[in-house]
Amino acid sequence: SPSDPDLVARARAAKEQLGDRVFVLGHHYQRDEVIQFADVTGDSFKLARDAAARPGAEYIVFCGVHFMAESADILTTDDQRVILPDLAAGCSMADMATAEQVAEAWDVLTEAGVADTTVPVSYMNSSADIKAFTGRHGGTICTSSNAERALRWAFEQGEKVLFLPDQHLGRNTAVRDLGMSLDDCVVYNPHKPGGGLTADQLRDAKMILWRGHCSVHGRFSLESVEDVRARVPGVNVLVHPECRHEVVAAADYVGSTEYIINTLEAAPAGSKWAIGTELNLVRRLANRYAAEGKEIVFLDRTVCFCSTMNRIDLPHLVWALEALAAGRTVNRITVDPETEKYAKAALEQMLALP
Ligand code: 13P
Ligand code: SF4
Repeated sequence: SPSDPDLVARARAAKEQLGDRVFVLGHHYQRDEVIQFADVTGDSFKLARDAAARPGAEYIVFCGVHFMAESADILTTDDQRVILPDLAAGCSMADMATAEQVAEAWDVLTEAGVADTTVPVSYMNSSADIKAFTGRHGGTICTSSNAERALRWAFEQGEKVLFLPDQHLGRNTAVRDLGMSLDDCVVYNPHKPGGGLTADQLRDAKMILWRGHCSVHGRFSLESVEDVRARVPGVNVLVHPECRHEVVAAADYVGSTEYIINTLEAAPAGSKWAIGTELNLVRRLANRYAAEGKEIVFLDRTVCFCSTMNRIDLPHLVWALEALAAGRTVNRITVDPETEKYAKAALEQMLALP
């Protein structure tokens, strides 16, 4: 739907008044009405790097979700303020791994005698506490665009990986990119004593996957892939690695949001694509490339928007920008220094991956 012209004018005026003091980052899953005000757009890896590369900006307004704003705060200088226009923009996947649960899991691994040889690899989509845990235990953060490199690095440091919190990204990367078998992976369930695993299972596994998933991508099914192939002959199926393993195994291409965009950009006119990722991005790409004769459809018509990404809307963005322009800092996201120190080590390890 077209944005309210009054709000567009107000956002523009507030941004203009703030000038170089504000820098607006927009994740690819954000609404069109918000993306139009982003100084840069990107996947979570690119945005983390972009946030770190803006030491001049007093305010970083993060149009994305809470864990991304936390990561931006960790990677920016202390005097820079990171603003999340709606504090309720969380991530259900990140909420699936709490600091207490992960500390308990590490105790379970220690009891089983495998903690010494296990390297934690945590997906960007996790709280700063989980990133700090990762840093404390010599691990790395990864995103969907560098998960393979992160895992290869981790297996040079140790024998096993504890992958948090997205079981699908962990499994898909281990099997597709590192050639492991499904039997090399076990799932640690934080709601069961001992994670629901025996010490023998922990000793035999190479990948210990946390039982977390994305509530949006987890809903694409093998059936959606089969249906779209029947409906659109010659279609290329392109999905995000947060999708379930059987969906990824049935797809033609797999990659992060940035990869999806680049692939469609390079696709020839007349090609047909079914995309399994968040709907705001798929709609934007379908509109952008329709004129070039690329047919882009959403992989499953019953899957909907990421509700927390969508919480950042134009009214919230206008409210935040106008407050900053009036000299009031609102919705600042901060990470305490002790957490920041270790979380930063894990994030910097990611940025240093070969
Ligand atoms: P990427 O943009 O890194 O592919 O992340 C997808 C996602 O789910 C972000 O919340
Ligand atoms: Fe979290 Fe999934 Fe939404 Fe990304 S798309 S913010 S992983 S719930």
